[in-house]
Amino acid sequence: MKGKSPLTIAPPTGKVGVLLPGTLRLGKRSEHRFSKIRDFVPLADLKDLVFGGWDIFPDTLAQAARKAGVLDRNLVESLRPTLESLRPWPGVWDGRYVRRLKATHRKQAKTKRASAEALLADIQRFREEQRVDRLVMIWCGSTEVFQTIHPVHRSLKAFELGLEHNDPAISSSQIYAYASLCARVPFANGAPNLTVDIPALQELAARRRVPIAGKDFKTGQTFLKTVIAPALKARVLGLSGWYSTNILGNRDGEVLDDPKAFRTKEVSKLSVLDSILQPALYPTLYRDFCHMVRINYYPPRGDNKEGWDNIDIFGWLGYPMQIKVNFLCRDSILAAPIVLDLALFLDLAQRAGMSGIQEWLSFYFKSPMAAAGIEPEHDLFVQLIKLQNTLRFLMGEEQITHLGIEYYDYYGLPVPRPSARRRLTNRQRVWLEHTS
Ligand SMILES: NC(=O)c1ccc[n+]([C@@H]2O[C@H](COP(=O)([O-])OP(=O)(O)OC[C@H]3O[C@@H](n4cnc5c(N)ncnc54)[C@H](O)[C@@H]3O)[C@@H](O)[C@H]2O)c1
Repeated sequence: MKGKSPLTIAPPTGKVGVLLPGTLRLGKRSEHRFSKIRDFVPLADLKDLVFGGWDIFPDTLAQAARKAGVLDRNLVESLRPTLESLRPWPGVWDGRYVRRLKATHRKQAKTKRASAEALLADIQRFREEQRVDRLVMIWCGSTEVFQTIHPVHRSLKAFELGLEHNDPAISSSQIYAYASLCARVPFANGAPNLTVDIPALQELAARRRVPIAGKDFKTGQTFLKTVIAPALKARVLGLSGWYSTNILGNRDGEVLDDPKAFRTKEVSKLSVLDSILQPALYPTLYRDFCHMVRINYYPPRGDNKEGWDNIDIFGWLGYPMQIKVNFLCRDSILAAPIVLDLALFLDLAQRAGMSGIQEWLSFYFKSPMAAAGIEPEHDLFVQLIKLQNTLRFLMGEEQITHLGIEYYDYYGLPVPRPSARRRLTNRQRVWLEHTS
């Protein structure tokens, strides 16, 4: 409904310590009102963003960009002064969590609590030196080894005791997330790690009223999977198998070459099909499908990942068919705009007083976080509608349901405003309920 949103959004003034999905329709189709998201919601200006961060290698951004070879050499050269001025701060490191890398630029703290305090000191220094008004932290660090919820993750009290006693079940990314939330900095998790997906850190986010989001950026193969799978289900096409494999040669690929780190990624990548296809509701179509995901570290390919999918489907009368997808993509080119969107939207969420899990940002993640007891939403287009409707809601604009009945005059039906609904005949009511 059009009207004032129950939330107020503080203005996006000042600098923020850190591309949006196109335009947004407002109102009815017959109104022809569209707006760029940037013009519709008060987002921080890209020119007001400043960046800082940590790494376990001391390379400046210029050195890292040259080594990664993602960006054109001339582009890196033209940005050299800025990129050279950006050197990461020493990272918090526990080699048991990322076993393929050897840190050379790390904090030397005796306890995990001391590591968190060192991160808080970095955040405070950055705030003062850059005179930033607000901050957002996004985990773009490596994938950690597979982890399940441990007693130390169950409450904030247990977690803080664990920091004190160097509990081995607290990973490096969890220490960053803890510091971020303590500093009231919104946090998003771009890796498939457990990180903030634990009761202890969600309790902290609720207490400090900080927005959180995650996990695992949805960029390549899974992005396409969450487009194709809903289409198969919509047309009642059955699935007997989906085999996905990738070759990539960047540092992420090197880390994922460790089977324990790959397991974290595998769980994240496997989660989408069951949730979209709902085998319990459609047993004859989806009960027994075989879903396999592989990643092969192949250095010559660098950041230019290649993903193959072989999808075995069946149609009417059980006749088999196949779909093949060969996605020649660029990992970082797909991921970087997501990082920027998340920074701007998390800043918006915090200014609007929204805290805890931001499910409307599911659009960006392979394994979207959701409230306890709620199935995460994986279908990309449902995620997009959720995101767009949240923005409309924030700005007090009408939600778009795509019902569309208001443009037509079937059965001489009155426009289904709430007052008109009361006057409907039984036949009309049944018809309306069936169509909506
Ligand atoms: N398309 C994508 O790039 C994409 C998509 C989905 C998910 N992800 C996930 O995002 C994460 C980053 O991906 P990437 O391709 O940028 O990887 P990357 O290897 O290029 O960058 C990760 C960086 O994190 C650093 N690091 C590791 N542990 C750290 C710590 N404790 N403290 C500070 N720095 C640390 C590493 O040194 C490395 O420079 C991975 O988990 C990856 O799986 C990336």
